Amino acid sequence: MPLILMAKTILVTGGAGYIGSVAVKVLVEKGYNVVVIDNLSKGSKELVHKKAKFYEADLVDDVSLGKVFVENDINAVIHFASYKAVEESMKDAVKYSDNIKGTINLLNQMIKNDVKKIIFSSSAAVYGEPKKGIVDEKSPTKPINFYGFTKLDCENIIEWYHEIYNLGYVSLRYFNVAGDAGLNYVDPDAKNVLPIIMEVLFEKRDKLMVFGDDYPTRDGTCIRDYIDVNDLVDAHILALETDYNGVINLGTSNGVSVKELITLTEEVVGKKIPFIIGKKRPGDPPMLIASNKLAKKVLGWEPKRTVKEMIKTTYEAYKNKK
Ligand SMILES: NC(=O)c1ccc[n+]([C@@H]2O[C@H](COP(=O)([O-])OP(=O)(O)OC[C@H]3O[C@@H](n4cnc5c(N)ncnc54)[C@H](O)[C@@H]3O)[C@@H](O)[C@H]2O)c1
Repeated sequence: MPLILMAKTILVTGGAGYIGSVAVKVLVEKGYNVVVIDNLSKGSKELVHKKAKFYEADLVDDVSLGKVFVENDINAVIHFASYKAVEESMKDAVKYSDNIKGTINLLNQMIKNDVKKIIFSSSAAVYGEPKKGIVDEKSPTKPINFYGFTKLDCENIIEWYHEIYNLGYVSLRYFNVAGDAGLNYVDPDAKNVLPIIMEVLFEKRDKLMVFGDDYPTRDGTCIRDYIDVNDLVDAHILALETDYNGVINLGTSNGVSVKELITLTEEVVGKKIPFIIGKKRPGDPPMLIASNKLAKKVLGWEPKRTVKEMIKTTYEAYKNKK
């Protein structure tokens, strides 16, 4: 009898969003069967690869979620779906509690349907205001906003499901995700600095507000670790196939300040970016950089794209969508 290898079926929650849609595209290109569930609160169906099976549903709706599991023979889950606006999370905890409720529903369906592996989108927000600028996975976790709390809570619940049911898991703590993967993603609700810079360049805003220039950093502005969305998604594919269970940082281990990001963008696009200096935001640490040694060791992963490439692809995406 010839051996017939069946392609694995991956459920991607939040697959109509910025990062999820890239993961869906890469998974389809690699030959996986892909099922997407997204409530379209922020994502858009046009971003979802045509070969993926799409369900418009909310993870807190257990009936709809159950149907997705019954109708598809799912082998593993990549769980991107989440609300993610930090400031909003401090005003609307009811909405953000869905991040936790949805994750619990998802895990329970996985157990019920004997699905053995989850890759979870966590965040550097679990570290809060770290004492050291470069954080590894053993650094203390102390979120300072409700969004970060929901991520840490989900991480902990997933770890318990691993203990109790032997569920395989990798929780990936992303730093600042940027760049485009050819899907021409334009953020419909820009909160991060690069999409905001793009809105200045494409005249949706007059100028960029830089929050503080007297931090103890090389030029006084905050330093962050920008990780390309293509590199980030590559790590998910590696995480799917690993036997490692635990949390892993995803960043480049290189820091770029806000002023450096402005200068780099000006060099890439050949235009000046008007900016003003505003007040510091509470809870913005001066420097937040990932140690990515663990990702390199257990996933064999290496970030490849530079910040200039992230700026270039983001700029192209905004230009193409204009
Ligand atoms: N973008 C970043 O820099 C960054 C950094 C750290 C962590 N993350 C995490 O990565 C994941 C993906 O982020 P993104 O930037 O692609 O965000 P996004 O908002 O573009 O995508 C999230 C998707 O989830 C969907 N969604 C939200 N709640 C849902 C629910 N209850 N049921 C079904 N669908 C739901 C939204 O419609 C959206 O399409 C999120 O979990 C986010 O917290 C992102």
